[in-house]
Amino acid sequence: MARDFFTMDDFDLSDRTVLLRVDINSPIDPATGELLNDARIREHLLTIRELRGAKVALLAHQSRPGKDDFTTLEVHAERIGALLGRTVRYVPSLFGRPAIEAIESMHVGDVIVLENTRFYSEEEALADTKLEKMAKTHIVSRLAPHADFFVLDAFAAAHRAQPSLVGFCEVLPSLAGRVMERERHMLENDVVDSVLTSGGVANLFLDAAGIDPGKPTTDFMRREVEDYDAHRAMCKELLARFPGRILRPMDVVLNDDGVRKPVPVSDLPAKWPVYDIGLDTIAHYVDEIRRAKTIFVNGPAGVFELEPFSVGTRELLTAVAEADGFSIVGGGHTVAAVEQFGLADRIDHVSTGGGALINFLAGRELPLVTALKHSYKKFAETKK
Ligand code: 3PG
Repeated sequence: MARDFFTMDDFDLSDRTVLLRVDINSPIDPATGELLNDARIREHLLTIRELRGAKVALLAHQSRPGKDDFTTLEVHAERIGALLGRTVRYVPSLFGRPAIEAIESMHVGDVIVLENTRFYSEEEALADTKLEKMAKTHIVSRLAPHADFFVLDAFAAAHRAQPSLVGFCEVLPSLAGRVMERERHMLENDVVDSVLTSGGVANLFLDAAGIDPGKPTTDFMRREVEDYDAHRAMCKELLARFPGRILRPMDVVLNDDGVRKPVPVSDLPAKWPVYDIGLDTIAHYVDEIRRAKTIFVNGPAGVFELEPFSVGTRELLTAVAEADGFSIVGGGHTVAAVEQFGLADRIDHVSTGGGALINFLAGRELPLVTALKHSYKKFAETKK
């Protein structure tokens, strides 16, 4: 199939200044600021290494405003530097004078990391507006004149039409990076036969099915899920539209002061929060996983970071790794879990994308892909 977007093969990037938008949104311990998993960062190394003949300014986001891991990209820059074996400078500015000066003073081979794009309100406020409008934001209009190319590698955020992701496609020749390219070729739209819910999604579906998991769980869900009631209503509608195809846990594990407390869902609501799925649910889901021809996993089954509540996540992911079907695992936390349990080598495709992957599998057009196609048409003449 003919390509309708540029890749890094289409241009000679040596000696040029490149703005590279990656998705290195990673699990971070809010208490210590420590980076808990660098899988997404490692994915982008191929693209960064290929740009060694250029001057590279990285743009990225970390978490969202209001979340406790919404922080600077300092630890990310450190980790990129450690993985590349050279200094990668973190610049605590995105488009202010320090950022522009840092870009202008780069030498060939330099990599700098600019500030978290979501520290700047226009990133979210102008999301989903027209490309022309996004091109006028400070982020795009201040940075673009100092760069020759935009390399878009943030597949994991491919479902987000935000200025730092798509706005540059209007004003600079924009090329898909290696992660973006690989993920796009890897995936095809598949029909889903059944959905096995666990973790937070299961709590939402339980609630939608009229099973109240209890106040600690619903309070947590309401804090985490924007527009909780609208989501619950949507889940209710999905349950009615696809009877028998969206599976819910039949038993769950509560966190009773750090101790596992298994209960059937018929015993809910509970005064303790739900932290994992129960053994009957695991057995049932494992059976489904073994029979599947294609398995897609997004999101852990429970709070796997805490040993007593890691059973569901570990057992389901082990079943996925052992299954004959083609397995795709996506999303920051899920990839972290796969790595924690030493299963990454046995999964057919470990994707950087969570929400982006779901949107892609659902057959929805991804704004980042649309923007790359736009740039391809607009800058066709500039190709070498
Ligand atoms: C992700 O982790 O799915 C991407 O980085 C996008 O993050 P978002 O859901 O906060 O936009």
